[in-house]
Amino acid sequence: MSDTLLRDVTIRNVVELACRAPSLHNSQPWRWVADDGGLHLYADPSRIGHHTDSTGREVIISCGAVLDHLRVAAAGAGWQTATERFPNSNDSNHLASIRFWPIDFVSDHERALADAIKHRRTDRLPFAAPPNWDEFETLLRSAIVDHAAYLDVIDDDGRPALATVSRLTEQLRQQDASYEAELLWWTGYTDPHEGIPPTSLVSDAEDARVDVGRHFPGGVQGHRRPGIDRDHSLVLVLSTYDDSRDNVLRCGEALSTVMLECTAAGLATCTLTHMIEIHSSREAVRRLIGRVAEPQVLIRVGAAPQHEWPPLPTLRRDVSDVLEIR
Ligand SMILES: Cc1cc2nc3c(=O)[nH]c(=O)nc-3n(C[C@H](O)[C@H](O)[C@H](O)COP(=O)(O)O)c2cc1C
Repeated sequence: MSDTLLRDVTIRNVVELACRAPSLHNSQPWRWVADDGGLHLYADPSRIGHHTDSTGREVIISCGAVLDHLRVAAAGAGWQTATERFPNSNDSNHLASIRFWPIDFVSDHERALADAIKHRRTDRLPFAAPPNWDEFETLLRSAIVDHAAYLDVIDDDGRPALATVSRLTEQLRQQDASYEAELLWWTGYTDPHEGIPPTSLVSDAEDARVDVGRHFPGGVQGHRRPGIDRDHSLVLVLSTYDDSRDNVLRCGEALSTVMLECTAAGLATCTLTHMIEIHSSREAVRRLIGRVAEPQVLIRVGAAPQHEWPPLPTLRRDVSDVLEIR
């Protein structure tokens, strides 16, 4: 195989794996371009309706997640990376340029994280409490130390207040026909390669046992995890010093790190942002974490029963639709 062909195949494989990253409603609001200067990540804000994500923050968070997934996928394949964020001051959608070079040694942890990309799923069912949390929290904090995001944990003490914020947010959203229309669009499953399929959603009975989840239409009927009477997860909040694009991108990178570390440790996760999309709810979350910072994303973390079949993966757009090799 020629050097150029080898480069193209490697980049394609790494980008394809990275695109398993989570994104708002599986909208995958990103585009990749590979050229002699490396690999470039662009945001594609046109993919997300602005009634859900009115500020565009969730586009950037999703792109931060795919950027971190890219580095993890590359490391697992034996490539070290150097990332320059916002390399072009004339194009704010050009989020990052990444350069690669081969390395001789891939650690077990790097392999485990790359493997976690394939197994991670957004799990919207109720969770049991995460075991050995204190030890794991220490590990998580050190894993995100370079990402410029703060991590707070809402435990049982703060949970009733968070559940109230979630319920009020949902009530407000029910009055918002444009928001509801966007939600129907992304759960309508017109193209199986984007949006959220019914198999990844929950029934009303299952939803009722998760007091802090976003409500989606169109889940399959069922009463899964009957042994978990209510959700016993911990809720993590990632926040940033401000809402600058740079910090929001870094927060998306931190989200990816948290999710992959959790998956590698056998924990289940579910990203939550409905409470961040509405100003008054976001203020309430800020008060709950008691920090002068901008809450960006919440993550439910817990344990799923081990004997269960893993949830089916949600599909992604074909890599040739999101990657251009020049
Ligand atoms: C910025 C962002 C916001 C999200 N918000 C929510 C949410 O509020 N509720 C939810 O259940 N899932 C949420 N998700 C998860 C996505 O729906 C999920 O990543 C996508 O459907 C792909 O599925 P997968 O994560 O199982 O691969 C969010 C993900 C991201 C990155």
